[in-house]
Amino acid sequence: MSVAGGDVAVVRSLRRPAPAIPPETLGKQVARLFEEDRSVPAFAVLRGRSPVGLIDRLGFMSRFAARYGRDLFGHKPITQMMDRDPLIVDAALTVDEVSRRLFTQNPKALHTGFIVTEDGAYAGIVTGIDLLQAVAHSLATTNEHLREAQASLVQSEKMAALGALVAGVAHEINTPIGSALTAATAFGERAKSFGALAGGGSIRRTDIDRFVGAALEASDYMEANIRRASELITGFKQIAVDQTSDERRHFRLAQCLDDVMLSLNPRLRKEAVGVALSCPPDLELDSYPGAVAQVLTNLVMNAVAHAFAPGPGGAWTDGRPRRMTITVEPLAGDALELVVADNGGGVPADVQPRVFDPFFTTRRGQGGTGLGLHIVFNLLAQRLGGGIRVEDAEGGGARFVAWLPLVAP
Ligand SMILES: Nc1ncnc2c1ncn2[C@@H]1O[C@H](COP(=O)(O)OP(=O)(O)O)[C@@H](O)[C@H]1O
Ligand SMILES: [Mg+2]
Repeated sequence: MSVAGGDVAVVRSLRRPAPAIPPETLGKQVARLFEEDRSVPAFAVLRGRSPVGLIDRLGFMSRFAARYGRDLFGHKPITQMMDRDPLIVDAALTVDEVSRRLFTQNPKALHTGFIVTEDGAYAGIVTGIDLLQAVAHSLATTNEHLREAQASLVQSEKMAALGALVAGVAHEINTPIGSALTAATAFGERAKSFGALAGGGSIRRTDIDRFVGAALEASDYMEANIRRASELITGFKQIAVDQTSDERRHFRLAQCLDDVMLSLNPRLRKEAVGVALSCPPDLELDSYPGAVAQVLTNLVMNAVAHAFAPGPGGAWTDGRPRRMTITVEPLAGDALELVVADNGGGVPADVQPRVFDPFFTTRRGQGGTGLGLHIVFNLLAQRLGGGIRVEDAEGGGARFVAWLPLVAP
């Protein structure tokens, strides 16, 4: 039976082809039929092609085998014993629809089974157990689909964080490339007029000196800017690779945090958020830099989205400078603490226990998915072998305290 995607299980797939009997069949003949084939759960009683009743094994046997049962029913037509009002459903109905009908209209069918017809003609019998199994299977499949949907939402939220970094880096690289381009253009003009001067034959020693000086200056300037762009690309490439590959390696934490902040800086500058980052420069981890980068990205982007959100319902209303601090300190036992705090509106006490829940957001319909902190929580708890909690920062604002071992599990 297939329940995947849009196509749902229909009872057609459940029915057992059960032999049917005509209404004249005598009780003792039915008893023999049940004895001869023990796999038959019930018989449909048919007049022509149409079902007029149902005779189920257990119900029949308990009456037939009872005292005087054989004498009472043995020589009577089965119509005397059959259920004249069985549940009859079309083969194209879904398992869900049939179980709804069964429980609301004809609950006894759970014991007796029910009849399936196709284009009005008898097509087989389904037992209560078969139906329950199909319902259980369909619930399990639905549950699996939900889990898959959640996993893919988590994946797209992770990609969104990477997207924020990409946008940041593209913006950041624009500056040095633009400067280098301006310098190259200006120097090109200069070279052209120098060429004209030289062609005219009236060139002097000082002209040459000046031109060489300008050439050196231009090339220094271009080199510095292009080097800067190249560093940005290298740093970003590392983050992008780390974030998408999930690779474990030795890395300096300060470098990793710097690379992330470099990519996020344009956004932070635009929102006028000042960031103070402090991390022991030599702290080395044997862990997952992609996961660390993702944790920091999500916490920082959350401060931008929530802590300093303006207007009614938003937390941030006064004009104090917006500040974030990112602090790393070693902990005893080869671990470290990473604290990301802001001086924004803070997380209300009744909200704090729920912020790490999947899909919990206070900005539904305004770009919130409620997955950012859930991802942070999972990365720390599972990938990095640490944990995280939220508390009030001194003087208001939110303070996220994460801890992790220097060597990931
Ligand atoms: N720095 C912060 N300041 C205030 N509230 C925050 C902060 N970070 C997170 N929150 C709260 O935690 C909730 C969950 O965050 P998150 O899981 O990232 O989902 P989303 O950002 O999509 O709302 C947010 O909706 C917000 O209410
Ligand atoms: Mg978020």
